[in-house]
Amino acid sequence: MQKLIGKTIVITGGAQGLGRALSIRASKEGANVAIGDFNIEGAQQTANMVDNAIAHKMDVTDFDSCQKLMDTAYEAFGSIDVLVCNAAILLSGAIEELASADWKKVIEVNLCGFYNTAKAAVPYLRKSKGANIIQINSKSGKKGSLKNSAYSASKFGGIGLVQSLALELAPSQIRINAICPGNLLDSPLWQNSLFAQYAKNQGITEQEVREKYIAQVPLGRSCQYEDVENLFVFLASDDAGYITGQALNVTGGQQMT
Ligand SMILES: NC(=O)c1ccc[n+]([C@@H]2O[C@H](COP(=O)([O-])OP(=O)(O)OC[C@H]3O[C@@H](n4cnc5c(N)ncnc54)[C@H](O)[C@@H]3O)[C@@H](O)[C@H]2O)c1
Repeated sequence: MQKLIGKTIVITGGAQGLGRALSIRASKEGANVAIGDFNIEGAQQTANMVDNAIAHKMDVTDFDSCQKLMDTAYEAFGSIDVLVCNAAILLSGAIEELASADWKKVIEVNLCGFYNTAKAAVPYLRKSKGANIIQINSKSGKKGSLKNSAYSASKFGGIGLVQSLALELAPSQIRINAICPGNLLDSPLWQNSLFAQYAKNQGITEQEVREKYIAQVPLGRSCQYEDVENLFVFLASDDAGYITGQALNVTGGQQMT
């Protein structure tokens, strides 16, 4: 049975990776999907893969751009019921190597961008029954990450924002939760960037990075998109109507608090 029939879901960062997987799953569950990304070609490709989807070029670091995404989604589908704040970047490096400008850029996209998109969506979410926000966080939002301070700090900040907005929006019956996935080792982020960055930072081979990260997971495997999708569908649906202010781990037991 489809779980998200009739809902309009706005997803940022849907041009590839997890955002694309969530967009496809949302559509399969019966939702209308508005995909925001500054990679408009990728976002359009995602939209073409599913029913009832539109793509919109935007930048989460620019509030006006976030507002235009929400206006476009509302005009297209007549409501905004769920916002998924998924767009993020990762620039890693030891403190003496990572430039302050790069550190700030990660915070601007991952934390300020989350605030901008939530701020732009809330006036529309207030019009919908069962409205909610889901931030795609990370296990690095719960525990420090080696030579990865900007990303980890941005994700810790995201949980503070989730908890604070949960208090602020609860009187309006708008829920907000975070999903903290483990390592999606088959994702473009890892394949195109992280294996190389971590191998360099940690002085080991890319194969050793893979083995090291899988060895840290009690269930003994990489996180898969479907693991995250299943929690996303539950949180977005009315089944999760009494759940707000939570940051839920999808880490195969790697993170337990
Ligand atoms: N891949 C993993 O192992 C992993 C693990 C835990 C959490 N996460 C989280 O999952 C989410 C998605 O990660 P992913 O692996 O799919 O990443 P990805 O790099 O494959 O995709 C991110 C998308 O965000 C878009 N984007 C980046 N900056 C943007 C901006 N300023 N405005 C609009 N769009 C922008 C990119 O164009 C891209 O399409 C992120 O929040 C990430 O932190 C990923």
